[in-house]
Amino acid sequence: MHIAMIGAGYVGLVSGACFAEFGIDVSVVDKDESKIAALKSGRIPIFEPGLDELVKSNVEDGRLHFTTDTAEAVNKADAVFIAVGTPSRRGDGHADLSYVFAAAREICQALTGPTVLVTKSTVPVGTGRKVAALAKELRPDLDIAVASNPEFLREGSAIGDFMRPDRVVIGTESDRARAVLKRLYRPLYLIETPIVFTGLETAELIKYAANAFLATKITFINEIADLCEKVGADVHDVAKGIGLDGRIGRKFLHAGPGFGGSCFPKDTLALVRTAQDVGSPLRIVETVIAVNDARKAAMSERVIAACDGSVAGKTIAVLGLTFKPETDDMRDSPALAIVPRLVEAGATIRAYDPEGMEQARPLLPPEVQYCRDAYDAASGADALVVITEWNAFRAIPPARLAQAMRGRVVVDLRNIFDPAAMREAGFRYSSIGRP
Ligand code: NAD
Ligand code: UGA
Repeated sequence: MHIAMIGAGYVGLVSGACFAEFGIDVSVVDKDESKIAALKSGRIPIFEPGLDELVKSNVEDGRLHFTTDTAEAVNKADAVFIAVGTPSRRGDGHADLSYVFAAAREICQALTGPTVLVTKSTVPVGTGRKVAALAKELRPDLDIAVASNPEFLREGSAIGDFMRPDRVVIGTESDRARAVLKRLYRPLYLIETPIVFTGLETAELIKYAANAFLATKITFINEIADLCEKVGADVHDVAKGIGLDGRIGRKFLHAGPGFGGSCFPKDTLALVRTAQDVGSPLRIVETVIAVNDARKAAMSERVIAACDGSVAGKTIAVLGLTFKPETDDMRDSPALAIVPRLVEAGATIRAYDPEGMEQARPLLPPEVQYCRDAYDAASGADALVVITEWNAFRAIPPARLAQAMRGRVVVDLRNIFDPAAMREAGFRYSSIGRP
């Protein structure tokens, strides 16, 4: 079988490489010539653990190809996947579907035979049906079957998530599309992955409902963490105590500085807008968005308070800039709310992130200093803030931190350090939701 994957981003590149690993011939297309040139020369334009080896071996085996030419890729394809971005539309928070429809148009215009057109991008309810109408209008001569196949992978563990997903969702009314997608996902079927077949609208809504639910779970534990701080309880134990109830589940109960990333913020907003448009508001999700935005903004005030009310003239080490570990993605990272506010309040920032500094540089104030490693960032600092829980930071001995720093304030927004060990090393240590 042959497929085309339109978009070589976090989803398109990972899904394309994984489908190739399943034994399918895959052409990954991107408009961005520098991305395709990099991929053709063996460089991976994003950081995603394991992706370089996976791409390399499938390119060597002749199953994975890269091109900027949509026509070349789609014409031999049994299925064409749209995996382009759907960011928030400026001004109103609806999903910006211009990339999706541009891609659908280009695909339809280039086709010389029938295919299955699959939306993998996260798109609002109704988009699949509009794509189908567009395909019919542009190519009445061809039988283009349309399907929605939302993607649930996480950055940082994307390959594992794609290869061993909790489920695959396929929304379509076409028997042909169902059969083609079933064949493409056969390796997952063999490992007994549940495959959920639905209509187009249902598949599209499953994706948004899943992200909104996870965002709600995080926001819930974040507010419980705030309450823990006021009443002397420990949010880790609360999360464990409730998470052991199978109906609640232990995952996604880590309190922190608020969720970020390329999807939860934009997808919760787009879902709320869809719901408002049809007169069926999602008040819980609306509140989640407001609480999370306020939380990210409040984190800098937490740092300022820990520094006795002022950071003016102080040096602050910042560990971690990306929205989560094991990615270079800075989209909607809490660091983008925290760092500029600290600079504005007069702090000198010495930052270190293992993978995200290049991406962070154009997004953060020019005064931010980028450091070689965590100790370099901590060197001479009055205070230290942990924004992203990279594993390398967890192993830092408190005594070594104390040696490097001038001051003794540590604000740990990811709870990676042991409070007792930090106090023993002489730190004024504060974390999230722990006494
Ligand atoms: P991304 O911005 O990393 O990549 C999108 C790519 O599409 C870019 O390289 C862009 O150049 C390319 N592109 C845009 N228009 C094109 C066209 N007409 N032809 C060819 N290439 C084109 O985006 P992403 O993070 O991979 O997200 C893609 C979609 O998947 C979004 O809808 C997102 O919500 C969804 N999603 C993302 C994740 C994630 O972890 N990032 C997970 C699940 C779902
Ligand atoms: C998320 C979903 O987990 C994926 O299933 C989905 O496919 C994807 O969005 C998407 O639609 O793009 P991702 O954004 O890559 O994946 O990363 P997550 O691990 O979900 O983390 C998102 C944010 O929530 C991060 O800022 C993270 O720090 C935060 N988070 C996560 C918490 O604060 N606590 C938790 O317990 C979990």
